[in-house]
This record gives sequence, C-alpha cells and structure tokens, in this order.
Amino acid sequence: MSNVCLRKLSITLGANEIIKELDLSVEEGEFLVLLGPSGCGKSTLLHSVAGLIDVSGGTVEIGGADMTHADPSERGIGMVFQSYALYPTMTVAKNMSFGLRIAGTPKAEIERRLARAAEMLHLEALLDRKPAQLSGGQRQRVAIGRALVRQAGVFLFDEPLSNLDAKLRAELRRELKLLHQTLRSTMIYVTHDQVEAMTLATRIVVMRAGVIQQIGAPSEVYERPANLFVAGFLGSPSMNFIEGELDALGRFTSSSLMLDTGIEAKAGAVVLGIRPEHISVSVAGQFEGSVALVEPMGNHQIVWIAVGERKLSAIVNDTRVFNLGDAVRFGVDTRRVSLFDKASEQRLAGT
Ligand SMILES: Nc1ncnc2c1ncn2[C@@H]1O[C@H](COP(=O)(O)OP(=O)(O)OP(=O)(O)O)[C@@H](O)[C@H]1O
Ligand SMILES: [Mg+2]
Repeated sequence: MSNVCLRKLSITLGANEIIKELDLSVEEGEFLVLLGPSGCGKSTLLHSVAGLIDVSGGTVEIGGADMTHADPSERGIGMVFQSYALYPTMTVAKNMSFGLRIAGTPKAEIERRLARAAEMLHLEALLDRKPAQLSGGQRQRVAIGRALVRQAGVFLFDEPLSNLDAKLRAELRRELKLLHQTLRSTMIYVTHDQVEAMTLATRIVVMRAGVIQQIGAPSEVYERPANLFVAGFLGSPSMNFIEGELDALGRFTSSSLMLDTGIEAKAGAVVLGIRPEHISVSVAGQFEGSVALVEPMGNHQIVWIAVGERKLSAIVNDTRVFNLGDAVRFGVDTRRVSLFDKASEQRLAGT
C-alpha cells in the first residue's frame, strides 16, 4: 500500500496546458474517484501517476518517494484501462501472468498469485480460455486480474466498466468495492459515471477543465456542493436551480417561488438549488404548480411540476397517479437547499 501525492502538477499536451499546478493527496488505502465530464483531464492525470506521460512541472510522489521521472515499471502501480487490452492469442492465465513472467518472477510465485487473483475474480474456470471466448465482463475481470497479480501498492482504473452493459456494470462495481475492502489497497478510479463515484469512493474529486472543483466524501459533495458546476454534475435528475434574490433575513424571492430559507448569508443575486428528493408533492404543500411530465422509474416516479415559467423535478416514492395538467401542491425541505452566489457560482458562505 502506498499513498500518492501530487504537488503543483502541470501537464501540457501539444500546445494545450491540460493540468495546471494541481495539488492532490491520496491517502494510503483510500478509494479515490476522479469524476468529471469528458475531456476534463481525468485520464491525463491518471497517466501522469502511472508514468505514461511526461509532466511539465511539479512532482509525483508514490509511497513517499519522488517518482516524477521514474519508469512506469518502477512505480509499484497496477493499471486497468477502459479497453481491456488483452493479448488475443494468450490464454486468460497467460494474459494475467504476462507481466510477472517478463519480470522474471519465480514460477511457483506466479502460480500462487494467479490462483489467488483468479479466486477473487471468479476466473478459475476460465483460465485456459482465450479472450475471444469470454464475455465483456469476463474480459474486464481478466484485465483487473492482470493488475492484481502485480500486488501493486496503488491501483489505477481508467473507466474500467464503461464498455459493459448496465447490469454487468453494477455487478462488477460491487465486486470492485468488495475487492477494495479485502485488499485495502490505494485505488484511484476515473469515471464520468456519478453512480460509480457515489457508491465506490471514500472521497470524490470533481474536476472541470483540468481544475479540481471539490474534494470530499460522496455525501459531502452531494449534499454540500461547492459550486454550481458540482451541484449540477452530481444527481439524477439534476438539482433544480432557481435564480432570484436573497434578502438579509434569508428570504428568497423569484418570479416562480418565494421561500424563507432561514439562512443568514450575504444578501444579493443568488441561485437556489433544490434536489428533486427534497420537493414533496402533497396537498399540505406551501406551493402550487401543475404536472408537466411524469417519468415512471419502477420503484419511484419523477414528476415535473410547472411553476411559472420553470419546471421543477420532484421524486415521488409511491404509485399515486398524476395526469398532465393536474394542479398539484408541493413543499420544499428548506433545511436541505443550497444557495450559490449568482456571479461567482460559489456556494454562499455560511450555508
Ligand atoms: N496528445 C494530446 N495532445 C493534445 N491534447 C490532448 C492530447 N491528449 C488529450 N488531449 C486533450 O487533453 C484534454 C484532456 O483529455 P483526457 O483524455 O485527460 O480527458 P478525460 O477527462 O479522460 O476525458 P474522457 O472522459 O472523455 O476520457 C482533452 O481536451 C483532450 O482533447
Ligand atoms: Mg479518459
């Protein structure tokens, strides 16, 4: 197990500065998830830890040692890519042990590690097959196994589940979580899937255009997003945003909604953020609107309520029937709302 520490890391690819003076400290045994939209620099950052690209400034420390310019093989890392990158002509066993054989690991040791990884990943029955004879999920298991046998101090995952269908993805996600609980290794995991981020991470790092927006436990990032970008990126459906004015007593006013937030923050132009699960559709609700759209989700439904010119999404956890155009009343859990400064898009201090 090792910790990973990036200090003032800058990475330039071609003419573009992709990462600029980024600081990030990953603790030993942590499952850190890098989350962000396509092109924000997640893979680039991961590759710099792996030693697959050169950095233009700053340092990469792994296990307390400066690895900024070390060869990938010296870094004590195991990496799993989005494309499985298996050798098509080798069996599963050969694929998994390839790196160890190259490194001259004794045969008995290879056998021992292979058996353990195969057991953990339920690959025992497949060891003699070739990749073409495996399903997508099984191939990705082999790719994970190949990283596991190296017994690395740090595992790097670059969207390892994104090529799999939804059911398999959920299954493998749970297996990865169990694997981490067993191995207790440091893991850095890149994804743009917020469900993976929420369910796997001990801490989530939300990135945008090469810049870290927020670092925190999943619940913290979800419940207290640091800015509008993070608030809008996490959650499905997205947080409802309403622009309006906040007065010194914490009263929020907009064309569609007036609400006493009870929050003593700086008065001015703000954006109010309400998660769909904090809007409750009920006859006792303080506000009124009409049903604009209903999305049945099986175990719950998403009801879109037209209020003035706005549409707010609300999660309803029962099977009540809503018809388009129905007048509905709803309440807002004011203790759970977020407030952002409209100009800076940052969460208001004191909230
Ligand atoms: N070799 C390169 N030369 C110049 N720019 C590059 C190069 N490789 C990547 N980039 C740019 O760097 C930025 C970050 O790319 P990166 O692959 O790290 O994004 P990402 O967050 O992993 O995205 P995705 O979720 O799509 O995988 C992108 O804007 C990309 O266009
Ligand atoms: Mg990527």
